[in-house]
Parts: sequence; C-alpha cells; structure tokens
Amino acid sequence: MAELICIGSLRDMPGEDEAREFIVAGRVICVANVGGRLRALDNVCLHRGGPLGQGVISAGKVVCPWHGWEFDANTGAAMQNPSACVAVYPIRIEGEEVLVEI
Ligand code: FES
Repeated sequence: MAELICIGSLRDMPGEDEAREFIVAGRVICVANVGGRLRALDNVCLHRGGPLGQGVISAGKVVCPWHGWEFDANTGAAMQNPSACVAVYPIRIEGEEVLVEI
C-alpha cells in the first residue's frame, strides 16, 4: 500500500535543473527539479545501476552521471531504451513540506 512520506521542506529540495538523492522508507530516490517542477524517481539507472540523483538535468531529462542515459522525469522512460522505465513516485507539496508517495 502506498504511503505519503515527508522528505523535507521546500528549501531542502534541489535547485532548478538539479537533482539530489533522498532516503525514503529505507530506499534512495532521486528528486529532480525540472524547470521548477519537482519529480521523484527511482535512483537506480537501468543501464548499470548509476545514481540518478547524482546526475544532472538536461532538456527536461535526468541524465545518469555514469554513462549519460537520459530518463524522462515525468514517465521514467529511458531515451536509450524505450522498453526500460524507472519507477516514478507522485510528489505532493503541502505548505512548506514535500511529500512523496512510495
Ligand atoms: S549506469 Fe547509468 S548510464 Fe550507465
């Protein structure tokens, strides 16, 4: 069953077009700020397990820091392999708190 978990306040979130790792419910997720909109994805790149939360944002995509695979921040789809998709988690903002549905 999905659970809403607070991952911090708005001021803890990555700046525009940056990504950052957060630990939520015992797992690491990638929170990306894509053009001012926060998105949460699984942190593990489907290529060889790189940490997406240590990557960068380019043209609206989360770019893995290891070999450059790109993931659509809205759908989790990998540009290099259309059948590969990382999990995307809904984000909700309540006041100053950022909540992720895991
Ligand atoms: S591990 Fe992410 S691109 Fe290779």
